[in-house]
Amino acid sequence: MKKKYLLFLAVIVFNHITYAQTATTKMNQFIDRLMQEMTLEEKIGQLNLLTPGGGIPTGAVVSSDVETKIKNGQVGGLFGVIGADKVLQAQRIAIENSRLHIPLIFGSDVIHGHKTTFPIPLGLACSWDTILIKQTARAAAIEATADGLSWAFSPMVDICRDPRWGRIAEGAGEDAFLGSAIAGVMVRGYQNNDLRKDNTVMACVKHFALYGAAEGGRDYNTVDMSKIRMYNDYLPPYKAAIDAGAGSVMSSFNVIDDVPATGNSWLLTNLLRKQWHFNGFVVSDYTSVNEMEAHGLGNLQEVSALALKAGLDMDMVGEGFLTTLKTSLQQKKITLNDINNACRRILQAKYKLGLFDNPYRNVSPNRAKDILSLEHLLLSRKAAAKSCVLLKNNNVLPLQRKGVIALVGPLADSKRNMLGTWSVAGDWHKSVTLKEGMENIVGNSARIIYAKGANISDDTAFNKRVNVFGEEIEMGPASAETMIHEAVAAAKNADIVVAALGEAADMSGESSSRADIGLPESQQKLLEALVQTGKPIVIVLFNGRPMALVKENSMASAILDVWFGGTEAGNGIADVLFGNENPSGKLTASFPYSVGQIPVYYNHLNTGRPYVLGGPTKFKSDYLDIPNAPLFPFGYGLSYTKFQYSPITLSDSVLDNNTTIYASVTVTNTGNYDGEEVVQLYLREEVASISRPVKMLKGFQKIYLKKGESKTVRFPLQVDALKFYNSDLAFVAESGKYDVMIGTSSIDVQTASFTYNNQ
Ligand code: NOJ
Repeated sequence: MKKKYLLFLAVIVFNHITYAQTATTKMNQFIDRLMQEMTLEEKIGQLNLLTPGGGIPTGAVVSSDVETKIKNGQVGGLFGVIGADKVLQAQRIAIENSRLHIPLIFGSDVIHGHKTTFPIPLGLACSWDTILIKQTARAAAIEATADGLSWAFSPMVDICRDPRWGRIAEGAGEDAFLGSAIAGVMVRGYQNNDLRKDNTVMACVKHFALYGAAEGGRDYNTVDMSKIRMYNDYLPPYKAAIDAGAGSVMSSFNVIDDVPATGNSWLLTNLLRKQWHFNGFVVSDYTSVNEMEAHGLGNLQEVSALALKAGLDMDMVGEGFLTTLKTSLQQKKITLNDINNACRRILQAKYKLGLFDNPYRNVSPNRAKDILSLEHLLLSRKAAAKSCVLLKNNNVLPLQRKGVIALVGPLADSKRNMLGTWSVAGDWHKSVTLKEGMENIVGNSARIIYAKGANISDDTAFNKRVNVFGEEIEMGPASAETMIHEAVAAAKNADIVVAALGEAADMSGESSSRADIGLPESQQKLLEALVQTGKPIVIVLFNGRPMALVKENSMASAILDVWFGGTEAGNGIADVLFGNENPSGKLTASFPYSVGQIPVYYNHLNTGRPYVLGGPTKFKSDYLDIPNAPLFPFGYGLSYTKFQYSPITLSDSVLDNNTTIYASVTVTNTGNYDGEEVVQLYLREEVASISRPVKMLKGFQKIYLKKGESKTVRFPLQVDALKFYNSDLAFVAESGKYDVMIGTSSIDVQTASFTYNNQ
């Protein structure tokens, strides 16, 4: 029986491999034939990605004469074309008017949803719910394809340990293990194992690489990092996305070893293609080829040639490839092979997407129903709730549905700010505010008195910069004093105050770094005035990054971090506030105690002079004026209920290369609410050939426990979990003693140890 089954399995695997080989051969034959017909200019044309405008331009240039260029075969793809009708129109030009009728590929920044917007990625990551995250990527793919698109500029997997960097909002946070898990499910959600389907998009992993480590948290800034740190802490999520089958990669704006990523052959060829066996195509970021001129790498012709030779296939917006590669070929600075390779990879992507069979694959009128469908809106509401992280709760949450609630703050009723940064296709008019969400839930059972209380910020120069895409920071006619006065009056008449404070949507995101990551002064003043009323205050914090909130933390009775929740933000947050949903989010990036601590992250190395809490301080690694620990650490987040952890049980005390140890804990819900808990497993290697982090996340499970219920959570541990890149960049596990820690956050864990024998 067993033999028969194995034979059956072998036949299936064999058939699958043969089928895949035949499909690849067919694709290559098709592309060979096509390329034989293509002129040099047409091949170079495929390497050109343009944007006719209409989306969110993220550089100084927007492409011109796009139609003529498409007709001339000088365009490989477009992005920023929003709407199936417009995609259809542009595709028709390529198919009907260009000599070889090669279809265009249509991309877009589908970052956290498409028209239905989900929480910003940093918020969504706090759900630690990979099934949910995958569902949001699926929904995004369904909507994007219904809008004619085939290519999503996502996932953004840049690890970031610096909340000053505005783009921390777009990624999964500070940890490579969690980041890798999320990267993988997002790619699978977008591509769904079949790019030819009319509801899948090709993923584009970005920004390759290390973009999140910009010096000083300033966007586009220099990155300088040891290879050990790169391999162990920053590269894994990109690799995970590629292993999950991502069809394309976007190069980053920064330098790596002082060579811009876009022209970095170590990165794009040695690492990506030779070590990681990536066989898709690489697109530059917005004019990042041209920007190599400012980096000091040569003129446009030189940097374009450099980028192509380094392994870049497609040039976004800058047209350096389009305008200079022919000359570089004539001058023998590049070879025809270099151009052919890049062209072939782009044609392969189009082929894999089925665009040669049906260039209009996604533009059918009956797909409109897939956009903003009830199913997607419900998912948006659920995701908004699951992304919330309860940072503090002195028994004031969940709110009661009775009495009087003062709802104050500039983010309480601001549709424009609900979607968060990088919501290219989202329509903020359709978003649900917190006020609407709370009213939907309480109906007539409680009274809600609303007052804006303050502007998000009163700094007009700052506001002008933030408001480039619209008036997110509204400056109404009322003075600061009047607004505060109204809010205080509302608070005095209420049993409890809900203060919706924080950042405007575009105070994070691209080109939105902040040196001061506190609450703007206008809102601090509002909070101080509210505190004077003596009423309990619940801060509902809208933010695209971890913020520095020591003072606010001491003033509030509760803080619920809601990030930017997307289209259904208000409903999802209200679900949590009123206890329809028990908050289960856990931070994926540390909230610093002060900006001066940055970078502050949980998986740091020990120093030679580690400070031990409560111990002597002189000649220890600490600060004179602030603690070492962040205000809220990685993995932290409260619930309305309580979870108790048993000590860890290990199935064995010794691990070797062929065995598995199971580490188990029993978690009991000892509180008064049913709820979900993210059980986290960390490892520490006590002695190694290089200094290793004080702990590293190596497993997590999200479980649901009814009140009073217990569950045993079991984590399998195998040698792979112990592996790291050593001084020779060899991926090894070293013999020795390991601590395994399991708990509710990175600082609240049970500990046990085992030994690993590498033999
Ligand atoms: C620049 C951003 O860095 C990138 O993330 C985005 O995909 C492109 N612009 C296209 O909009």
